[in-house]
Amino acid sequence: MSDLPELVQRAARVFPGGVLGSHRNGPGLEFVVREARGAYLWDTNGRRYIDYLLGSGPMLLGHAHPSVVEAVRAQLARGTTYMLLNEPIIELAEELVRAVACGEQVRFTSSGSEATFFALRVARAYRGRDKILKFEGGWHGTHDYGAMSVSTRSPKAFPAPTFDSGGIPHVLGDTVLVAPYNDLATTEALIAAHHNDLAAVIVEPYQRTIVPAPGFLAGLRDVTRRYGVPLVFDEIVTGFRLAYGGAQEYYGVVPDLATFGKVLAGGFPLGAVCGRAEIMRHFDPAWEGTPDYVWQTGTLNGNPIAAVAGLATLAEMRKPGTYERLHRMGTRLRDGLAAAAQRHGLPARVSGEPPVFDILFTDRDVVDYRTTLMADRERLRRFNDECLRRGVVKAVNKIYVSLALTDADVEATLGVFDQALAAVANA
Ligand SMILES: Cc1ncc(COP(=O)(O)O)c(C=O)c1O
Repeated sequence: MSDLPELVQRAARVFPGGVLGSHRNGPGLEFVVREARGAYLWDTNGRRYIDYLLGSGPMLLGHAHPSVVEAVRAQLARGTTYMLLNEPIIELAEELVRAVACGEQVRFTSSGSEATFFALRVARAYRGRDKILKFEGGWHGTHDYGAMSVSTRSPKAFPAPTFDSGGIPHVLGDTVLVAPYNDLATTEALIAAHHNDLAAVIVEPYQRTIVPAPGFLAGLRDVTRRYGVPLVFDEIVTGFRLAYGGAQEYYGVVPDLATFGKVLAGGFPLGAVCGRAEIMRHFDPAWEGTPDYVWQTGTLNGNPIAAVAGLATLAEMRKPGTYERLHRMGTRLRDGLAAAAQRHGLPARVSGEPPVFDILFTDRDVVDYRTTLMADRERLRRFNDECLRRGVVKAVNKIYVSLALTDADVEATLGVFDQALAAVANA
């Protein structure tokens, strides 16, 4: 049996901050994963956790799903990467185009961050303009444009961006406009004033766990169409999770381009840009040597292992009743969490759609990034820690629901939520 503290110490020596990225468990609650199956993770001490982090979303079927494992095992023996056309990746592209209303053509990447980066780059080439408009609090990955105005504690007046990472060239601040999510009037005014410079508007249609206000996405569609500015939906979280056709099916608004990752790749590194052929054709190497050409390549793009994992995942998701079950389970968890917060007299909002949501400790309705700033972060940190202490893992600000959960898991989780909220209320 491995020695947990020793592994954590080894991690602290080789990783800055002792972590892989930004996810960090509370002090004394650090653990190292030994394995994961279905709805559960086990740490190196053999302790079992119910998993609502799900690898930050991809493991919608649960971990090591037998049909994904079998598909990957069969592909492993045929080679793991070619950088050449192969049947699984063509099939995955065809399935994406079938599933998604905006889908005509596809380019694959190795991560979601690359997918949004290339969606913005191809929109620039198509429009012949440089600027993009994003929404405050929206997250599109780690590249220079994604890391602006995501998590600042001191927002600036719209449309000025904040830099949420060091190392971003300051000149890029002039290429990003920031708008308030769910505020259509302000967004329309910004687009009207800047449309001549805009290459794209990018949005998480369901921003983090904030639901779009009625008419917001449709209004965004109208104003971007009016000015000929491509609308990009970042569906890296929502794709195949809210509905098989993603947020564009769920909310009934179709963008020009959309980006995917997470569930699409079945737990392997793969992302995708997908959308109208008129824009996507700028990726065509026949245009090489012209300013219209967007050079997009990557060693692992088109990776057949990720493709078969994605195809196996999507085949499971297409089974009748799957989304109904996901939404039913999510609704039970979400509404049970809200009821528990009320029972304990805590001012709280449980925000979001059933397949992925979270609690915010605030008495204000959560409609945009600035209302999330009113929430009590210390209480959320304590809630996350108290859940973890009782064997429930969640993301820092998300509860991802998996199809591997049993009714008993949901019941057990609601019990943990109740105890964790009691601890928050008594702190
Ligand atoms: C909405 C959204 N876009 C983009 C990304 C970046 O994807 P990746 O982590 O695969 O680079 C994420 C990651 O969580 C995301 O949630």
